Amino acid sequence: MSAISKLALLVCAVLTTKFNLGASVSSPGNIFILAGQSNMAGRGGVTGAKWDGNVPPECTPNQSILRLSAQLVWEQAREPLHADIDIGKTCGVGPGMAFANEVLRAKGSSIGVLGLVPCAVGGTNIGQWARGGQLYTQLVRRASESVKAGGTIRAVLWYQGESDTVNRADAEAYKGNFERLVSDLRFDLRNPNLPIIQVALASGEGQFVDIVRKAQLGMTLPNVKCIDAKGLPLKPDNLHLTTMSEVHLGIKLANAFLASYSHQF
Ligand SMILES: *[C@@H]1O[C@H](CO)[C@@H](O)[C@H](O)[C@H]1NC(C)=O
Repeated sequence: MSAISKLALLVCAVLTTKFNLGASVSSPGNIFILAGQSNMAGRGGVTGAKWDGNVPPECTPNQSILRLSAQLVWEQAREPLHADIDIGKTCGVGPGMAFANEVLRAKGSSIGVLGLVPCAVGGTNIGQWARGGQLYTQLVRRASESVKAGGTIRAVLWYQGESDTVNRADAEAYKGNFERLVSDLRFDLRNPNLPIIQVALASGEGQFVDIVRKAQLGMTLPNVKCIDAKGLPLKPDNLHLTTMSEVHLGIKLANAFLASYSHQF
């Protein structure tokens, strides 16, 4: 081997080591929990059991955006963000990467490293997210782990309720169930003012979408904001947001967060 290629190998090895160290040792200062069901997990670009692999520029990876893996390790975030979390279905593009890239773009590098904690699972109703259940326990576990290195949870992004539109009783119970979830989370995460940004449904599995939407749009708890997804184009299944709809939603979520909370850091 020539001296030049030895040198080249050495440089590569050093760069690789440096990059890996950077990705695994650095931990985010500003952390966001992503929870809910399929439209938060992301079905953009998924047909049947296949994701088309299309990553719009708004969703590209950035060294300043990490995600907490299912193994509780920080790694560079990339689509599909929920691939190892919502394992029952094929994941595609959700709102998380567009959200993080928009926050980064708006705040510049001064904001430091962002951390995303994907927790959404498709097909889940709000009853399954109640304290004591597996989803809630997992969310609190991942959220607690995410701040171990010293970061702060800035907000929970919540997009859920499609599964609560099938029975009238579930739809009518949504408001109370959500309020209970918010107060339990704030208590268990020891942050009584934890900002929650929820999404008012664009679609539903049943006929009681308007009842759930009314509950979502009418939430009056402090530090609970609502973004309306109604009107964003849906896939042919009439239930899931397209890739571009997820991008638009992510940007809307970022703008809502920035408008209300970015003065805090
Ligand atoms: C990552 O984000 C920073 C801060 O906004 C930006 O300057 C940089 O160009 C981005 N990198 C990529 C690869 O998009």
